[in-house]
Amino acid sequence: MTVNDTALAARFALAKMLAAEAGAMALDYFNRRDTLVIETKRDLQDVVSIADRNVETFLKGRVAEIYANDGFLGEEFGHDEGSSGFTWVVDPIDGTAPFVNGMPTWCVSVAIVREGEPVVGVIHVPCSDELYASALGFGSTLNDQPLRLDPARNLQNAMTGIGCNNYVTPQRVGAIIAGLMDRGGNFIRNGSGALMLAYVAAGRLVGYYEPHMRAWDCMAGFCLVREAGGKTLHFPGRGAEFLNGHPVLAANPSCYDELLDLHLRNL
Ligand code: IPD
Ligand code: CA
Ligand code: CA
Repeated sequence: MTVNDTALAARFALAKMLAAEAGAMALDYFNRRDTLVIETKRDLQDVVSIADRNVETFLKGRVAEIYANDGFLGEEFGHDEGSSGFTWVVDPIDGTAPFVNGMPTWCVSVAIVREGEPVVGVIHVPCSDELYASALGFGSTLNDQPLRLDPARNLQNAMTGIGCNNYVTPQRVGAIIAGLMDRGGNFIRNGSGALMLAYVAAGRLVGYYEPHMRAWDCMAGFCLVREAGGKTLHFPGRGAEFLNGHPVLAANPSCYDELLDLHLRNL
């Protein structure tokens, strides 16, 4: 094991522990969500509460205690540059809309990026007691069981996740769904892009596509999908574009090219 691998392995262990702790904290808020004040951000669909902020504060504080020189990017409090070469990329609650509306499809998403690529991806789903975990060269697991994609599943015989937000026109979303169905596929959306990426790694979905997401929505899922044998579209993990939104595509290699074609025809 190289020095770098040791540094990675230690952070991977911490990421799993923190995602589990953060998930328990978020679940406690979920179980008393009637007491939360729900605020809106960009529009009435873009919601947030103290749960999102406090879970991110918890994660950021624990990382800073142990790895003071690591960078940190979170949805609620933005980006702090580090100097170690590792940057934690965190969505404290992905699927805030299902969360505040009492549905179980939300998760805590914790990634670590090195040299612009996700090298750790951990997603905790408290309501179903699932911990998805991956690190570069370590494979992907769901509750410690290895994940490996099945080449027999494809766009036509399995489900594809499609996500959207109001950065994308309704017409474009409609054309994407129509294009998927024209190819013999069908779509599902559960309100958490990070969780649907984990489902791709677990083989529950054959692919996931969303025209505009941010690094905290997809980096953990990308690591999971890659380590399970899947393919992902390049997403900038450093530099000026790191904080901007970009298309997100991850899939079983059996249908990656078909979904890439769907993306390119609907820019
Ligand atoms: C959102 C969810 C949703 C996706 C949006 C994301 P949030 O994240 O992942 O499924 O369609 O693009 O912004 O707001 O629940 O953290
Ligand atoms: Ca998110
Ligand atoms: Ca979020």
